[in-house]
Amino acid sequence: MLDVFMNTYHRLPVSFVSGEGSWLRDSAGKRYLDFTAGIAVNCLGHAYPNLVKAISEQAAKFNHVCNYYQSEVSRAFAEKLVAACAPVGMRKVFLGNSGAEANEGACKIARKYSLKKYGSGRHTIVSLKGSFHGRTITTLSATGQERLHKDFGPFTEGFRFIPPEDIEALDRALDPATVAGLLMEAIQGERGIFPLDPVYVATAAKLCAERDILLMFDEIQCGVGRTGTFLACEAFKVKADIITLAKGLSGGVPVGAVLAGEKAADVLGIGDHGSTFGGNPLAAAAGLVVLETVQDPGFLAEIVRKGERFQSILAGWGHPKIREIRGRGLMIGVDITTETWPVLEGALAAGLLVLSAGTNTLRFLPPYTIQDGEIDQGLELLKKVLTGT
Ligand SMILES: Cc1ncc(COP(=O)(O)O)c(C=O)c1O
Repeated sequence: MLDVFMNTYHRLPVSFVSGEGSWLRDSAGKRYLDFTAGIAVNCLGHAYPNLVKAISEQAAKFNHVCNYYQSEVSRAFAEKLVAACAPVGMRKVFLGNSGAEANEGACKIARKYSLKKYGSGRHTIVSLKGSFHGRTITTLSATGQERLHKDFGPFTEGFRFIPPEDIEALDRALDPATVAGLLMEAIQGERGIFPLDPVYVATAAKLCAERDILLMFDEIQCGVGRTGTFLACEAFKVKADIITLAKGLSGGVPVGAVLAGEKAADVLGIGDHGSTFGGNPLAAAAGLVVLETVQDPGFLAEIVRKGERFQSILAGWGHPKIREIRGRGLMIGVDITTETWPVLEGALAAGLLVLSAGTNTLRFLPPYTIQDGEIDQGLELLKKVLTGT
């Protein structure tokens, strides 16, 4: 069969036709328990009734208006999102369509903030080794993974990487004469689920504040309730200057958001930035449902409880192939002693979808609506696969 897709993904041999809750069904009618949620996207599961209703109702009105006009649904979404991020200091938002686009926006804001206040030469963005911030040339420039850089240079100038958790390296790198911003994930997802140490983050926040360097959290994978707080960085009890979100924010409809606090909220002016689909009413209608659902403290508490259930079952096995279990809420990484790919293939054959990340890490990002029985059932399948591979 001639494949019309460019060969960018190692795709498994399954094609889905429908979904419901934590389950997907393939074209042969086989059911799969989904521990991936489309890589942290379908946070309310598949075909979540309120989401289906909101998207259908919006589609019956209009799908899109350009950003030279206004729409009530986009404004309502933006207001609710800013309010959700207010505890870490956010005041305004720019809406786009993807994580990479949100991080591009963050870099632009940091650079303009610094240029207007201090003049040229203070444009460097510092980020962490092992980080992942996107696939565009600039967000790859901010991504601290050599293997992803191969073949695509030259990259955008003015990016610098430091090892995570090394406070001396952080102090040295945050040079107030040259650095505009520090960009980091509260939990490094693509590296294999590595939560940052609170002392490291508190130090970063203090140094950034003292040196007027913008503190930017990429919450694209770990945000929107995934760790049991609306933003993962809330756990650090620090104020941020910029937050980026995408993935789960509209429950499966493409979306991206860059939010800014007091210092940077008014940096961008007319004509500085734009995005045809940004604030798209379909994404906004879906996003409103996600925000209304996820912000409920009881719902967030359930994410924490379910995450603990995952981790305690996994730890309880004492499985010889499991080296380490990491993560918070429903963002869980399990380091194994063997290759992950055969486990992914074996799980698929058994009717379970799991992800990998970094080296030798199995990654679980299930829908928040997953039921206890489904967690138990999926992990039981995984145990058999892990033992047999
Ligand atoms: C932390 C983080 N930042 C940015 C991105 C890029 O998002 P997108 O693929 O929507 O451009 C991702 C995607 O995996 C991510 O995990």
